[in-house]
Amino acid sequence: MQYITKSPEETSQVGYELAKKLDTGGTLRTFIAMRGEMGVGKTAFVRGFASYFGIEGVKSPTYAVMNQHTSKNSKRIYHFDMYRIESDDDLYSIGYDDYIESDGYALVEWSENIEYAIPHPAIYVTIARDDDDEMARIITVEVEEGAI
Ligand SMILES: Nc1ncnc2c1ncn2[C@@H]1O[C@H](COP(=O)(O)OP(=O)(O)O)[C@@H](O)[C@H]1O
Ligand SMILES: [Mg+2]
Repeated sequence: MQYITKSPEETSQVGYELAKKLDTGGTLRTFIAMRGEMGVGKTAFVRGFASYFGIEGVKSPTYAVMNQHTSKNSKRIYHFDMYRIESDDDLYSIGYDDYIESDGYALVEWSENIEYAIPHPAIYVTIARDDDDEMARIITVEVEEGAI
């Protein structure tokens, strides 16, 4: 699936819609691997995703590496930013394995940095800029079979 957005709010809306689609009582553990350069809108997307579950005020976890949120109906969201992750040791030290084995939604910014550690099936969300329009983003959502 591909979407074109023209504002951060529209990008958040695409995140919201994905959350809605995933919230159907199927898989309890979902891994969303996000790709795209700095400032492209990954955090905006996660903000919209979380807002579907009634979670507001999502901020970039760049320094914390992971922010955990729990919705009123006990859905968990693990929001990672792997920008500074460079090795297996780094991943181990943040307790990555424990989180991805727990029920909930993992949304991972800079998943390019941990490609080898992405559990499959996964959902990929790739966000790219459009050279002709400063505010436009092209969002591609790819669902591996069995991820939903
Ligand atoms: N269509 C768009 N979608 C998302 N962000 C946009 C868009 N157009 C402009 N922006 C701007 O791009 C930036 C995206 O920031 P952020 O979501 O933190 O990116 P990332 O997490 O990928 O580094 C914000 O400053 C936002 O206002
Ligand atoms: Mg970000």
